[in-house]
Amino acid sequence: MAGRRVVSKWIESIASELSGVAERPRREAELLLMAYLQRDQIWLITHPDTEIEEDTKLIEWIRRRKANEPLEYITNSVSFYSEIFHIEPGVLIPRPETELLIDEVLSCADSNRETTIAEVGTGSGVISIVLARHLPKARIIAVDISSTALEVARKNITEFGLEERIELRHGNLLDPVEEKIDILVSNPPYIARNAVLESNLDYEPDEALFGGEAGNEIIIRLIDTVLDRDIDCFACEMGYDQKEGIVKYLEKERGRSLRFYKDLAGFDRGFVLKKKGKR
Ligand SMILES: C[S@@+](CC[C@H](N)C(=O)[O-])C[C@H]1O[C@@H](n2cnc3c(N)ncnc32)[C@H](O)[C@@H]1O
Repeated sequence: MAGRRVVSKWIESIASELSGVAERPRREAELLLMAYLQRDQIWLITHPDTEIEEDTKLIEWIRRRKANEPLEYITNSVSFYSEIFHIEPGVLIPRPETELLIDEVLSCADSNRETTIAEVGTGSGVISIVLARHLPKARIIAVDISSTALEVARKNITEFGLEERIELRHGNLLDPVEEKIDILVSNPPYIARNAVLESNLDYEPDEALFGGEAGNEIIIRLIDTVLDRDIDCFACEMGYDQKEGIVKYLEKERGRSLRFYKDLAGFDRGFVLKKKGKR
């Protein structure tokens, strides 16, 4: 690849370079070019004959993607719940299935009531931000053990103008939160330490992926905290094979209802643990 090319030719040549690595090479070629040119899809479609100069940044982006680095880390942007968020290497890329977790929290919450929500493992902050936008009376405390994640979350919170509503805290699980919490939400690390991972996860941080030897250790610790601190509602994402262990762990817990939800592929993906009699 060298020199000048028109937009349509760039899309073709990038798509062909990415054909070995991307599931949808043409779509990724468009997204890469849109981010590089800082233009949207409509501009790309309506300017097929505009000449674009090749430069080292574009070549470097294509090289990184060919090495299987996720597109989101290269373009520093990710779409979640119909919004665009900033993302950087070192912080988990939010996944589409986590949008279901938001819906579960919204079903627990009363948007007319002042509610205190805590999020453990906020990562890029997307869950807390979407919740704050849907629940105008909620105050949210978002915790992460990773300072890189908290920096990215801070950028996103500022971008959405939510500094007054979402407070970031650094620390382990719910330790930095002493306040009374109504709702706890978490998409914690839940992969077992020895699990064989798909290669697209190679670029993501270990502390965002691995939940311990069995995988569900952090989830169990969060459940303990919810029971100890008498939190009304806990919505949590989990691995597709973790339902049984959680059901067993909560077998004797009579004062709570436990409901599991599935992702769009039909796999068990999370649960909501609620005090009986609560929304
Ligand atoms: C699976 S990622 C979820 C990120 C984000 N909430 C999302 O859904 O995209 C898990 C997050 O939990 C954080 N984390 C891991 N162990 C933690 C702990 N013990 N206490 C607090 N946060 C933790 C990681 O740094 C990571 O940002």
